[in-house]
Amino acid sequence: VARPRVFSGIQPTADSFHLGNYLGALREWVVMQEDHETFYCVVDLHAITVAQDPELLRQRTRLSAAQLLAVGIDPDRSTLFVQSHVAEHAQLSWVLECQTGFGEAGRMTQFKDKSARQEAEHVGVGLFTYPALMAADILLYQADQVPVGEDQRQHLELTRNLAQRFNARFGRTFRVPSAHIPKETAKIYDLQDPTSKMSKSIPAGVVELLEDPKRSAKKIRSAVTDTGREIHYDPENKPGVSNLLVIYSALTGRSIADLESAYEGRGYGDLKKELGQVMLEFVTPFQEKVRGYLDDPAELDKILRRGAEHAREIAASTLRTVYDRIGF
Ligand code: ADP
Ligand code: NA
Repeated sequence: VARPRVFSGIQPTADSFHLGNYLGALREWVVMQEDHETFYCVVDLHAITVAQDPELLRQRTRLSAAQLLAVGIDPDRSTLFVQSHVAEHAQLSWVLECQTGFGEAGRMTQFKDKSARQEAEHVGVGLFTYPALMAADILLYQADQVPVGEDQRQHLELTRNLAQRFNARFGRTFRVPSAHIPKETAKIYDLQDPTSKMSKSIPAGVVELLEDPKRSAKKIRSAVTDTGREIHYDPENKPGVSNLLVIYSALTGRSIADLESAYEGRGYGDLKKELGQVMLEFVTPFQEKVRGYLDDPAELDKILRRGAEHAREIAASTLRTVYDRIGF
């Protein structure tokens, strides 16, 4: 029996992934390797929809791949590759752009949000056509499932529409993918503002996987909580404490209820100090593995080359069919 095929990508736009990326996405990627045929991609083409520094982009692409390996993406079980190494992504993207309505693309809320924050003349066309590239990423591999966060749902819906539209116009070509709603994911909030999600744009409230764990412990100690004393999971009234409990539970596998009783009669200080220790124990072996890959660039290159070769076989086969169908 063929395992369901999964595609997911992550942008190399920061020096380090943060705890939200790990607990909200990457941890599930690792789990999915067990019973899915998984394609995981560092999406560097997407990363140039905003201004980039070439040397930094190159570094961050490698760092991203090293971090994916270090969290447990196994290159013998998953196809791990860099998007720009497989030219078919850009090629299919053009074809899909020509199937996408201008109004349809203009309704994408991510485009509206991101472009609203910039001067019109600095907003590139690539930011507008980004969802067609994302659709190409997914459809090239005939993915059955795409793990998506809330923020990517609308883009996945567009991907499904494009697949159905193309199939209707030109004959069945693409598998129509569905959203995979992960069982194991947590939404992680900013430590300084526990009502907004942890995101690289607010540094003080973001725990980075590659930072010194002492720095993470310090951020956790200064996390915003509330004036109460009880360690209870209550996201509505105690968002700060609840966020810390979610992180603690996700990193240790202990249930929230178990943590609540373990911390009964103890203060926020204890919880924060011990969560700092949990973080240290989690990131120490992770950081060692990342260092290992960075110290052996030939090995990392080999893994990514092998990933791209396998990805390209499938991508090229899909693109051949597409070109044939549209009359090339
Ligand atoms: P950011 O939100 O920092 O810009 P991305 O948008 O690149 O990060 O997110 C990469 C992946 O990590 C996505 O699947 C996204 O849903 C997930 N993710 C990002 N931040 C969080 C968070 N705070 N909690 C849970 N998942 C998150
Ligand atoms: Na995002």
